[in-house]
Amino acid sequence: MYYPIVRKALFQLDPERAHELTFQQLRRLSGTPFNAIIRQKLPNKPVKCMGLTFKNPLGLAAGLDKNGECIDAFAAMGFGFIEIGTVTPRPQAGNDKPRMFRIVEAEGIINRMGFNNLGVDHLVENVKKAHFDGILGINIGKNKDTPVEQGKDDYLICMEKVYPWAGYIAINISSPNTPGLRTLQYGEALDELLDAIKIKQKELEKKHHKYVPVAVKIAPDLSEEELIQIAESLLRHNIDGVIATNTTLDRSLVAGLKHCDEAGGLSGRPVQLRSTEVIRRLAQELQGRIPIIGVGGIDSLVSAREKIAAGATLVQIYSGFIYKGPPLIKEIVSQL
Ligand SMILES: Cc1cc2nc3c(=O)[nH]c(=O)nc-3n(C[C@H](O)[C@H](O)[C@H](O)COP(=O)(O)O)c2cc1C
Repeated sequence: MYYPIVRKALFQLDPERAHELTFQQLRRLSGTPFNAIIRQKLPNKPVKCMGLTFKNPLGLAAGLDKNGECIDAFAAMGFGFIEIGTVTPRPQAGNDKPRMFRIVEAEGIINRMGFNNLGVDHLVENVKKAHFDGILGINIGKNKDTPVEQGKDDYLICMEKVYPWAGYIAINISSPNTPGLRTLQYGEALDELLDAIKIKQKELEKKHHKYVPVAVKIAPDLSEEELIQIAESLLRHNIDGVIATNTTLDRSLVAGLKHCDEAGGLSGRPVQLRSTEVIRRLAQELQGRIPIIGVGGIDSLVSAREKIAAGATLVQIYSGFIYKGPPLIKEIVSQL
């Protein structure tokens, strides 16, 4: 009820400033009894996926809480699972500001943050302090200054550090804002990366006596042939899940609108249909052998249902949450 007022105030500010102010407040509440202010009591709707039980099928998508600073605050709002990150081995500042733009008329966002984060060690310390007892996904990536040919090493360093603390690990090879990152989605580069990740997962399973599933996050900007090749590679390597999709480079649905020509990835309503199409095509290829986490433009119960009808087992939101706030969590979780 109150979110439209909060949003009106926040939307007066530069998007990143609004994010910082909101996080300042949420950090204060997170894990304290004052969490009650933002708590939403929602029905339990357990879903099994990747061998785990999720409280409900709606998660927070990666990128909003990159350092895992407000896990308990987002949990209190009713998310069934929370994906933090993308985190890299070493802290990095990300791209120059401004680097996040609202396309209000289209309920979209363009961002070129560039994995600004405080590094994996800092994230792990925050996770240790959190009280959240649901499934925590930890999304990992590579540092900008690590050459893409050595990118694999960055994923392995992060895996090693987050493994004991993660419900699942998300491998982000689809951000458009780290030069060369998306090339890891194709051919030999993908096979090599997935080989190394599966070997590391086995080693860590033995060491920690627990199996942590690994999901790969893909872009919406793939040809049908590329999508089929990725699906085959995921199957060959027994990957546990696939997250579809990240942001798009396509601007056709926002042409002419303010900020539409800013560089970066576009999210929110303009990516909704494309991401649903990717999920549908992926589901055809995977035939239920690998579960899909659907993300991209979910802004209502209807659009969440569309992702599930297309083949997703779980769904996530980011931009819809910025535009609609906690009431969107309630709408989706209580009625899905
Ligand atoms: C400002 C911003 C930052 C993001 N950062 C990340 C990130 O660090 N890692 C990642 O995997 N996805 C990131 N994403 C992508 C989202 O997780 C999601 O896949 C995408 O925005 C589509 O969902 P949406 O339309 O609900 O926002 C980011 C999105 C936005 C808007």
